[in-house]
Amino acid sequence: MCGIIGYIGNNNAYSILIQGLKKLEYRGYDSAGIALSNGNIKVFKCQGKVADLEVYSSNQDISGKAGIGHTRWATHGEPDDKNAHPHSSMEGDFILVHNGIIENFAELKADLLKNGFLFKSDTDSEVIVNLMEYYYRQGKSTSSETAVRLALSKTKGNFAVAVMCKNDKDQIIAARRGSPLVIGIASDAYFISSDVSPVVNQINSLIYLNENDVAIITKGSLTIKTLENAPAPFKISQSEITGLELEKGNFEHWMLKEIFEQPKIISDILHDRIVHDQTGIRLDGLNSVYSKLPEASRIIIIGCGTSWHAALIGEYLIEEYARIPVEVEYASEFRYRNPILKPTDIVLAISQSGETADTIAALQMAKNSGATILGICNVFASSIVRLTDAGLFTHAGIEIGVASTKAFTAQVTLLTLLAIKLGMDRGILSAEVSQKLIQELIQVPAKINSILDNHLDIRIIAEKYKSSVNALFLGRGTLFPVALEGALKLKEISYIHAEGYAAGEMKHGPIALVDNKIPIIVIAPKDMNYLKSVNNIHEIQARKGKIIGVITKGDTDLSSLITDNFEIPEADPLVTPLLAIIPLQLFSYYVASALGCDIDQPRNLAKSVTVE
Ligand code: G6P
Repeated sequence: MCGIIGYIGNNNAYSILIQGLKKLEYRGYDSAGIALSNGNIKVFKCQGKVADLEVYSSNQDISGKAGIGHTRWATHGEPDDKNAHPHSSMEGDFILVHNGIIENFAELKADLLKNGFLFKSDTDSEVIVNLMEYYYRQGKSTSSETAVRLALSKTKGNFAVAVMCKNDKDQIIAARRGSPLVIGIASDAYFISSDVSPVVNQINSLIYLNENDVAIITKGSLTIKTLENAPAPFKISQSEITGLELEKGNFEHWMLKEIFEQPKIISDILHDRIVHDQTGIRLDGLNSVYSKLPEASRIIIIGCGTSWHAALIGEYLIEEYARIPVEVEYASEFRYRNPILKPTDIVLAISQSGETADTIAALQMAKNSGATILGICNVFASSIVRLTDAGLFTHAGIEIGVASTKAFTAQVTLLTLLAIKLGMDRGILSAEVSQKLIQELIQVPAKINSILDNHLDIRIIAEKYKSSVNALFLGRGTLFPVALEGALKLKEISYIHAEGYAAGEMKHGPIALVDNKIPIIVIAPKDMNYLKSVNNIHEIQARKGKIIGVITKGDTDLSSLITDNFEIPEADPLVTPLLAIIPLQLFSYYVASALGCDIDQPRNLAKSVTVE
């Protein structure tokens, strides 16, 4: 939520900051702004996207070899010009960009008002920048760095900030608590960024700032210390991603590209995790704690949004194949409901970004209770990765589309591997059965490719339904979470109201919605629940409902019964979630495309929700 970029070096900062902001725009896109240092510090900011900022700043003096930039997802105050970042302190001593929420901002603001400070915006961020000025002006010899540290020490809540000072124009101070921030190092420049994507092609190495660390950066020097002014240890690492992944290629949107990347990602995961002779599974990231897992009395899986849907599939699979009790909870509920946690519990957090505030807080609570805490994450060195005892990386590459696709199938693939491995190690699955399941998994990438080959058929069906006001998605077993995820995709990017439901629950409410307008997507492959799903279809048809079936290829009984079908290849139920979600992702994408929606940056959403 909110993207921060900073640059100090030999080149003009403006275009570097603008290009960086474009890559960070997935984190928020209500307004954008930059500050440039060239003799004095100039601020350009406006409501809208980075492209609007470019128009706004055209024909202005955009010179300067140091600067900071921001793209905003509004929390405090409307998304308008005055609330856009950077924010300047009352007398202009400090200029700041901020990501996060300052929980005690009202209290701090009241004190500043008493001290004569005036505010121009409704943001919590302006409180921090004025507090910096307050400390700076209090002591005659207070340095800008000291003022920044003092002000940040008084805040409660999360922040990643980049700050410039009027009197130290060739210096940027960066700091973080709770929200991510990296420092990129090039031969002749330093970069600051919310994630590595904008800087990866321009740097030699990087530093992930630790909690409560402050970096004081000039053109030729970098010092990292704690908020309390003690030296802070830091690790310089090479970036783990390649620039190649960050090109959209011929795809119209990142989301479509990411949908098409799924076979390769799943294939890579399987290649790395299935042992050479295909008789077993290795999950090396869990090695240090793995002995606790087969004996666990229960596993609690937490997550938000799409990651929560993956967790639900994990619950079905682990209980089915490994017979370990699993509970799944929204992290946002778990953290506030005083759950009963025991040191013998395994708590597994699933998160694409590794930065979701609710998931981090829930995990911290579990850690404090003594439980073993694990993660399934896509982003290296993210907060969740650093917090957990052990974990697995999805290796899906940076996901740019706000609506998650490839991260979801990568999470489900890892959970499927975990379920089989636990089943084997607990003696629940025989060698013969587990090898058959592994073979089923190995065929998934090719089967997904065969679904993707039919994307144009899915597009035709999507265009037919683009004017729907509501949609209902139904599934049973592991396909119930797939129905939830299908509905989430449609509402996220097309703004059509969509609900996912367990098909067996249809008669307890959703059936009242059935008329001849609402499309009802029934996931009904040939599995153990097939006949039950066929019953649902009959019940809907008896009420003149429109049905789109997700059916097994060659199922002529159903295809002749239903108006529209998405076919998926025949497969073992173990892997059906990985196949059934593909046509639903494409359906949502093509509906949104037909409606002309902003697919990669849907309204009001953000990729990484670093605030509550
Ligand atoms: C946001 C994103 C979703 C994502 C959710 C959880 O709402 O828009 O796509 O599923 O956060 O994010 P995480 O990074 O923890 O998986």
